[in-house]
Amino acid sequence: MQQPLTARRSSAISGRVTVPGDKSISHRALILAGLATGATRIDGLLEAEDVLATARAMEALGASVSREGDAFEVIGQGVGGLSPPESVLDFGNSGTASRLMLGVLAGCPWRVSLTGDESLCQRPMKRVLRPLSEMGLLVENDKDTLPLTVTGTDDLLPIVYELPVPSAQVKSAVLLAGLNAPGKTTVIEPLPTRDHTERMLRYFGAEIDVEAGKDNSRAITVTGEAELHGTHVVVPGDPSSAAFLVAAALICPGSDLVIANVLLNPTRTGFLRTLREMGADIEILNQRDSAGEPVGDLRVRSSALKGVRVAPERAPSMIDEYPILAALAAFAKGETRMEGLGELKVKESDRLAATAAGLAACGVAARIEGEDLIVTGASTVPGGGSVETQLDHRIAMSFLTLGLAAEDPVVVDDIGMIATSFPNFVTLMSSLGARLG
Ligand code: S3P
Repeated sequence: MQQPLTARRSSAISGRVTVPGDKSISHRALILAGLATGATRIDGLLEAEDVLATARAMEALGASVSREGDAFEVIGQGVGGLSPPESVLDFGNSGTASRLMLGVLAGCPWRVSLTGDESLCQRPMKRVLRPLSEMGLLVENDKDTLPLTVTGTDDLLPIVYELPVPSAQVKSAVLLAGLNAPGKTTVIEPLPTRDHTERMLRYFGAEIDVEAGKDNSRAITVTGEAELHGTHVVVPGDPSSAAFLVAAALICPGSDLVIANVLLNPTRTGFLRTLREMGADIEILNQRDSAGEPVGDLRVRSSALKGVRVAPERAPSMIDEYPILAALAAFAKGETRMEGLGELKVKESDRLAATAAGLAACGVAARIEGEDLIVTGASTVPGGGSVETQLDHRIAMSFLTLGLAAEDPVVVDDIGMIATSFPNFVTLMSSLGARLG
């Protein structure tokens, strides 16, 4: 059953808050902890449906995952020490969980079936199946989408693989498979994508080598038959969740908001860089290192924004932030041109189309030209429309945020999927002054 919600024009979004743990790091912490020997304590794990899908999959493969007070404890089985699951692995809405776990399953010599929800079952899997098959994974039926049945092997081949699309999920799947292959497995990425897998593999004791090439490219090599050791992981706040709060503070007049302990890994900060170019008043305070990742506090005050061009090379560092950037662009003076958004078409929904449709429903001038999205801002945004979420959490949160500063209320048809990444979004936003109900 769908759960609609309405966002109404709000006054200042102010206060000091934290956002839930980073989704990408949470998936990886559970996976690497399950592949390590001994116990790992995870503080700040994101307890949202996507991450719980990874936790359930790792448990089905023999790792133990339990809550210990505010933290999680994972007892790993060692690389090569997992056991066959008793039933189908269901990854719900999570592309990251399914693709990363395919990398793990490549090194497990059993037949396993994987499935997901209606959105996940439409998303491309060949991007991971292709390199994993080269390494030795057998895939039944020549299909690009879940449900799928695969058989891994304890005799994987190490490969050198150049990513055809800038995808951290594909990179991570190959590196995770490489843990089980004898020798060195290398992934070459033409543009840097989020590097949490490399950082965390090193943190758990794997041998990882990163070589910078020309034009920003990188070659990441993992030495296989690795031994990972249980450790203590601290998951910082998710910048992709913080993005909605940042946006709300920028467009609601009189706002002054501090979001503490946000991940500031440079492969994830494209949104902040773009906002600054748009004239946003954002200060980064208290920068520090937290268990191998840079973090800091963000202070955001309402700002008059101007439209900018966002180059395609920036896309990997803000790939999940385009819907909320497009919502912000509606309030910016002039045109915002977001280029090279082809990858948005294969997210939880076709986000390029869903974002353009949502903007149109809210009376915003927006058009798609090839793989570019162009939004023309205005001093007032009409709102008054109903937005289709299409099983996509970020579409829901982006248009609820837009509705906080639009003239007329904005209705989002279903907020159910928000639980996949940011379960307390509505209560947190409401506690800061957002009128959602
Ligand atoms: C993720 C990588 C990105 C991103 C997704 C999380 C990850 O996907 O959109 O939300 O944790 O590796 P792609 O790797 O497909 O770009």
